[in-house]
Amino acid sequence: MQIDDAIAEKFATYMEKYPRFYQNLAKIVRQNTPYQIDRPVVVDLGVGPGLLSLEIQRVMPEVSIMGLDPSIKMLKLARKRAFKADFKRFGAILSVAENIPLESDSVDILISRFSLPYWKRPMDGFSEIFRVLKPKGKLILEALNADFPSWKLFLIKLHMLSNSAGQEVIRYHVDAYESAYTMIQVERLLTDSRFRILTKEGNKKDWKFVIIAEKTAKSES
Ligand SMILES: C[S@@+](CC[C@H](N)C(=O)[O-])C[C@H]1O[C@@H](n2cnc3c(N)ncnc32)[C@H](O)[C@@H]1O
Repeated sequence: MQIDDAIAEKFATYMEKYPRFYQNLAKIVRQNTPYQIDRPVVVDLGVGPGLLSLEIQRVMPEVSIMGLDPSIKMLKLARKRAFKADFKRFGAILSVAENIPLESDSVDILISRFSLPYWKRPMDGFSEIFRVLKPKGKLILEALNADFPSWKLFLIKLHMLSNSAGQEVIRYHVDAYESAYTMIQVERLLTDSRFRILTKEGNKKDWKFVIIAEKTAKSES
């Protein structure tokens, strides 16, 4: 399910209509960043067109963000957005979750919104995230919920259609549910990768959920 350039553009245009999704996550990043850190290092994994990174920078101007994505087009869109906003501490890096080109123990917060269904090997993704986070560093994962009932998915399609998402973006979003995970499956993947789960947001039948997990310190693993 690689995104092509035309869909990437359309996805960006559609998601610009929903700043509240990104504002909410940016607030969660700020709340989970220890105040003692002067220049927190944040990774936005599956950065897409950079809407979330920009929102994080708005609420935490001191932050440095690395946006990772396997789509060159998405990285170009994210870089352009950061440039326009004069956000200098933003780097766009071509990469997948399963192979993150960053040093071990180097990241304070890693956030990922809706990229999980596209990872080919989720266990490899989570062990890479565990590796790059500093001890006690946090993963904030927003994921589509595989338990979301299919008849409700139909209502989402209608909503997207009436908000001019276009067929390709609707398909891109709806198809992702076919490879989505339930909250329980994600919890298991996280604990198997030695994360400690701190909080969970969302009900069993919601369309998405957020899990915040911490990298256990070496002495605990
Ligand atoms: C639904 S978009 C979400 C983009 C962005 N996080 C947002 O919420 O606006 C999913 C993104 O995940 C990226 N992606 C696909 N495979 C990936 C992988 N293996 N690891 C990390 N990101 C991936 C896609 O290129 C795409 O930009």
